[in-house]
Amino acid sequence: MLLLDGKLASQAIKSELKQQIINLKNDRKPHLAAILVGNDGASETYVASKVKSCEEIGFQSTLIRLPHSASEVELLQKIDNCNHNPEIDGILVQLPLPKHINEQKIIEAIDPSKDVDGFHPVSVGRLVQGLSTFIPATPYGIMLMLEHFNIETKGKHAVVIGRSNIVGRPMSILLSSNVSKGNCTVTICHSATKNLKEICLQADIIVAALGRPLFVTADMVKEGAVVIDVGITRIEDASAKKGYRIKGDVDFENVSAKASAITPVPGGVGLMTIAGLLKNTMQAYLNRTQQG
Ligand code: GUN
Repeated sequence: MLLLDGKLASQAIKSELKQQIINLKNDRKPHLAAILVGNDGASETYVASKVKSCEEIGFQSTLIRLPHSASEVELLQKIDNCNHNPEIDGILVQLPLPKHINEQKIIEAIDPSKDVDGFHPVSVGRLVQGLSTFIPATPYGIMLMLEHFNIETKGKHAVVIGRSNIVGRPMSILLSSNVSKGNCTVTICHSATKNLKEICLQADIIVAALGRPLFVTADMVKEGAVVIDVGITRIEDASAKKGYRIKGDVDFENVSAKASAITPVPGGVGLMTIAGLLKNTMQAYLNRTQQG
């Protein structure tokens, strides 16, 4: 069984980016602006990792914080400032947002040329049509991981569990596209899918992205399948140092005995999401400085 170690794969990508930065002729470095509304624990952690990774590889980053009570107009104003700031290459607004803010309106307010999360309808439309675009960071990170470990995908049956705009849907598009690590036959499963177990048993590649801890069990997995676990649910556990443990969507302990390759949680896809975001930010910078 091959462990698809996100630490290894993301370090390789970060090292490449770091070298690209060292070779830049321009004094101005790629600059990511991250906007965090409120203080949800998981979102705080994700945004802190994103900002720290920028520092590690020599990108500039700005963290813009707004209180949970901030209005939609206030957030739109911050986005507008970033859109018009020539020093900023990439903008991300950490999701989810407080209920009183319309997430779609916020996503659509980001200038598509700075949409390093790839959530804007322009970015998604370009992805669907096979045009150059910013690919949402998690599916992008998974494609980079498949590339890093040279997993064969052509002609394989990939089953994606989950149809979110952030992971499942773009993942299914990428895996079915005529690109490196694409060319799969893809089935998307969701809450209304019947015979999920039978469908999963036909999968050469399973991507579990539904956010239900330990949902994919060994009896759902074919011998030799490649299993990608996107889940990162916090489960309260008083015996853990932080008071919680991170659980994936896959029962790693039992599924790993059948899989030919599998991602761990933590230490798998989560780290690749950051690698995808950094690559998008570099691309946004190159597009803007016309070096790309
Ligand atoms: N929330 C969960 N995943 C993501 C992501 O990739 N980007 C943003 N902005 N928010 C998220």
